[in-house]
Amino acid sequence: MRPLRLYINIDHVATIREARKTDEPDPIEAARQAEAAGANGITVHLREDRRHIQDRDVERLATAVTTVLNCELALAPDVVDLVAALEPFQVTLVPERREEVTTEGGLDLARDTGRLREVIARLATVGSRVSLFIDPDLPTIDRAHALGVPAIELHTGRYAHTWRSSRTALDDLGRAAAHAAGLGLAVHAGHGLTYDNVAPVAEIPEIEELNIGHSIVSRAVIIGMYGAVSEMRRIVQAARRAR
Ligand code: PXP
Repeated sequence: MRPLRLYINIDHVATIREARKTDEPDPIEAARQAEAAGANGITVHLREDRRHIQDRDVERLATAVTTVLNCELALAPDVVDLVAALEPFQVTLVPERREEVTTEGGLDLARDTGRLREVIARLATVGSRVSLFIDPDLPTIDRAHALGVPAIELHTGRYAHTWRSSRTALDDLGRAAAHAAGLGLAVHAGHGLTYDNVAPVAEIPEIEELNIGHSIVSRAVIIGMYGAVSEMRRIVQAARRAR
């Protein structure tokens, strides 16, 4: 059984700060508390529109994080330049549309992948591990494998929307994870995972990393980041042990 890493996405700590364009709450302090509570990594998404995390946050996190930093980003040149210069442990490439509330679907790898290949090569040169955020769809996984990346992150959004009424999306995630692992890809998962729906995903044995943000930051507003991360860790670890 692979161990399961829990990475905390702290974007929405910055969302609260940006609501007033002030200096609180500080995402770096949130990262410290998440790490103290046992997070295995810190994830941030530097969006092209800078709606939450700012350039300075990523620069500070690059030195403050004591676990590992996972930067989510799209292919915008200024964002790629800034992140590549910081040489984070991992970069997760995601699609981005300005009007979306959050990342709505995985990367479309059936389209022209010229720019994607360029960015993957650049990030590999600076030593960052590259992961592609994709839907749990077998042909897309094959295309990710063909691009030569070491890892993929399966988009759990459809599962998050349907888990109360149907097992289909969970079965699709399980099939996708097994297929990807069979190709030698490291399998990550994330988006829309909550304290209520995370356990069945954590039970999928091939998944080795979860990226969870909104639900944890929401809980942290009520009980603090340390407690929120501790609770999620307990659920995830119990699910993995139950296998
Ligand atoms: N993984 C990826 C690639 C994402 O884009 C996001 C959202 O920024 C997450 C995980 C975390 O999603 P959520 O905030 O719904 O937990």
